[in-house]
Amino acid sequence: MIKNDLFLRALKGETVDRPPVWMMRQAGRYLPEFMEIKHKYDFFTRCQTPELASEITVQPIRRYGMDAAILFSDILVIPQAMNIEVEMKPNFGPYLPNPIRSQKDLDSVIIPDIQDALGYVMNAIKATKEKLNNEIPLIGFAGSPWTILCYCVQGQGSKNFDKAKELCFTNPILAHSLLQKITDTTITYLKAKVEAGVDAVQVFDSWGGMLSPVDYQEFSWQYMQQIIDALKDNAPVIAFGKGCWFALNEMAKSGASALGVDWTCSARNARYLSGGKITLQGNFDPSRLFSPPKEIKKMVTQMINEFGKDKYIVNLGHGILPNIPLDNAKAFVDAVKEYKK
Ligand code: CP3
Repeated sequence: MIKNDLFLRALKGETVDRPPVWMMRQAGRYLPEFMEIKHKYDFFTRCQTPELASEITVQPIRRYGMDAAILFSDILVIPQAMNIEVEMKPNFGPYLPNPIRSQKDLDSVIIPDIQDALGYVMNAIKATKEKLNNEIPLIGFAGSPWTILCYCVQGQGSKNFDKAKELCFTNPILAHSLLQKITDTTITYLKAKVEAGVDAVQVFDSWGGMLSPVDYQEFSWQYMQQIIDALKDNAPVIAFGKGCWFALNEMAKSGASALGVDWTCSARNARYLSGGKITLQGNFDPSRLFSPPKEIKKMVTQMINEFGKDKYIVNLGHGILPNIPLDNAKAFVDAVKEYKK
């Protein structure tokens, strides 16, 4: 039914002429048309207004023609729906004025009715599906429970999320109760997104790499696994753990359809660690988009040759940076479309 289904075929591991391409955070501040809307409406208004969220989602598609769209929203709509206040402060990023640090704090955290609290996301999905007109698939996403806990406990972004780790290691029972509440909410949320029309889901464990391999199993992976178990029969799941190369072997056995890889792990090592059968996604260093377009094209072609054209989705190793020139982003996408084996 979807005209360009390269992305869905790569998720199934089918043979393709060229790999599909999209970019994490492709709907973002490097686009002048995004900045125009950003100057008029604050962050959560953009997320909560289906007309704006769907428009922002299709902006990069119109300009570059990626093979998949990702719904404009944020991972922090989940804590917000769970009765934790979340602000997006200009030039600062996420700010949670009442972080969760005690049992009393946790008692105020609710497992929300998804339609009541996040019905606007489902409406944004329906509006986006209409705009996409079955041309390409739409990706829905959520943060991993660990990554969401990081913000809920730290109260803001951080280089090391020391307060989040302190809570896990001094009061693991409290941390696990919070992680389970986030997991339960996320499962219902992602199922509702699939029901509303997304064709695949990605779970972003952006801060999984902050944990040691042993702590990763305890505080992140077991909850990611619960989400994959609950979703995998509803839609393909992509598990992206930044800095989590050490877990690729375990992740490959999880039932996920694909695994995200960042640029600190070579294609060869990622294939080796993940066992060679599962689809991989990544792993261009987002800062490498500062290289001249000609060089970007060369590096992208080389990256495809290293991963192989099959069981592979071309992407960055993390989100695109706000100050990337438009022509450089174009070179990244074009290099994939021009790829010939
Ligand atoms: O990928 C896309 O195009 C879809 C949109 C998307 C956003 N956030 C929009 C956004 C996605 C997939 C996210 C996920 C997200 N949000 C993650 C996981 C992915 C990652 O990058 O690690 C995380 C950790 C967040 C939390 C978050 N939201 C932060 C840290 C920030 C501020 C940092 C910054 O770049 O300023 C946000 C705000 C945010 N979310 C912006 C966008 C486009 C920028 C601010 C704005 O538009 O006003």
